[in-house]
Amino acid sequence: MLVQPSGSLQIPPLSSPANSQPPSVSPSSQPLTFSLVIPTYNESKNIQRLIQSLSQLLDQTLPGDYELIVVDDNSPDRTWEIAQSLVPEYPQLRVMRRQGERGLSTAVIRGWQVSKGQILGVIDGDMQHPPEVLLQLLAAIQGGADLAVASRHVKGGGVSRWSITRRILSRGAQLLGLIICPQVVGRVSDPMSGYFMLRRSAITGQILSPVGYKILLEVIGRGQIEMIAETGYVFQERLEGASKVTWKQYVEYLIHLARLRSRGRLGRLRQKFNLPLKRFIRFGLVGLSGVFVDMTVLYLLSDPSTLGWELTRSKIIAAEVAIINNFLWNDRWTFGDLARHQPTFRKRLKRFLKFNLICLTGLILNVLMLNLLFNVFGLNRYLANLVAITAVTFWNFWLNLKLSWRVTDAQD
Ligand code: GDD
Ligand code: MN
Repeated sequence: MLVQPSGSLQIPPLSSPANSQPPSVSPSSQPLTFSLVIPTYNESKNIQRLIQSLSQLLDQTLPGDYELIVVDDNSPDRTWEIAQSLVPEYPQLRVMRRQGERGLSTAVIRGWQVSKGQILGVIDGDMQHPPEVLLQLLAAIQGGADLAVASRHVKGGGVSRWSITRRILSRGAQLLGLIICPQVVGRVSDPMSGYFMLRRSAITGQILSPVGYKILLEVIGRGQIEMIAETGYVFQERLEGASKVTWKQYVEYLIHLARLRSRGRLGRLRQKFNLPLKRFIRFGLVGLSGVFVDMTVLYLLSDPSTLGWELTRSKIIAAEVAIINNFLWNDRWTFGDLARHQPTFRKRLKRFLKFNLICLTGLILNVLMLNLLFNVFGLNRYLANLVAITAVTFWNFWLNLKLSWRVTDAQD
């Protein structure tokens, strides 16, 4: 059984005393290519099948050059004991029974701390992450990526039979993340994923302080991550046991985002984070055409010299006409390269609905800002409208880039 490390959550460089265990527990002190951590809590019915399928797969790809590290938090169903009983049959398996410390993210980090691999990975212990995706992730890292993420939201990705509530919660959490901490959450299409691999050197020596479930955010927020690769996978139905996700994980997720945002690292990330300028300029020009449409319709409907309708009603109609105008231009020009991969009417309609939803949220902000500037600060109605539209343009661009055009590749 592995000795549970304590102290700060830091991944040591290879062949340092921190990750060398007493000879009795570590099969060899030689560095390996790959260490895969499997965090478990009450997975007694899944763990044997998982170890078997992982071993079958990796014995062919990395014979004798990988290790599986089960990190169990003293499960009441004694998952750690079952895992330990498998060690004689699977010599590349190592087991850590944690007592006193709990939580998914810290379990993964403790596993990486005692690992010997140049590439570090994590996979759920409940068979919901298809093992064969590991090969594509490994190829991506060996091809030069610093981080390779299995994503439900790119081509080939999806979820099985998730309830609409779970989908809304997952997407809602992602949307919040894009607002609170865009430089971290915005770098991947599935920031909630718990299935990924990274180059050990990208995270060595960084002090990690994750909260809750989302270890990937911690890796992106604190690691030296330049190149990120993504591979689509379908999140499987759980066959045995139950998910441990409760409302608590969502609260911890928000705390985690706030912490990442507040750290000085965000400044450095901001420099690295390159806004897709050309796309943004096109989006801005399309937005300008939308302003023209918006203003024209607003004038025709609300100006005393024309129909003289009430301001807010006119504004909402004007904005919707402008949104349709903008979608058509953006879909053909700004994001045309992405849209061409998904030409079907259904996909286009899905993009339009997402675009509309994001822009309508922006519209609400726009109307609030327009009324605030016009009725409270007494600004001229057209100047107030212009200020409001400019502020909302940034909002629309960012969320559409991350949610509408990028994500509609998914199968789900
Ligand atoms: N050691 C340890 N300690 N393992 C844990 C703990 C814990 O406190 N809580 C959960 N696990 C293990 C589970 O045993 C399982 O192997 C894995 O972590 C995922 O937990 P689930 O409870 O099955 O989470 P899920 O199915 O809702 O999946 C969501 O979270 C996963 C982890 O981030 C999704 O977001 C997945 O994409 C993600 O992989
Ligand atoms: Mn699960």
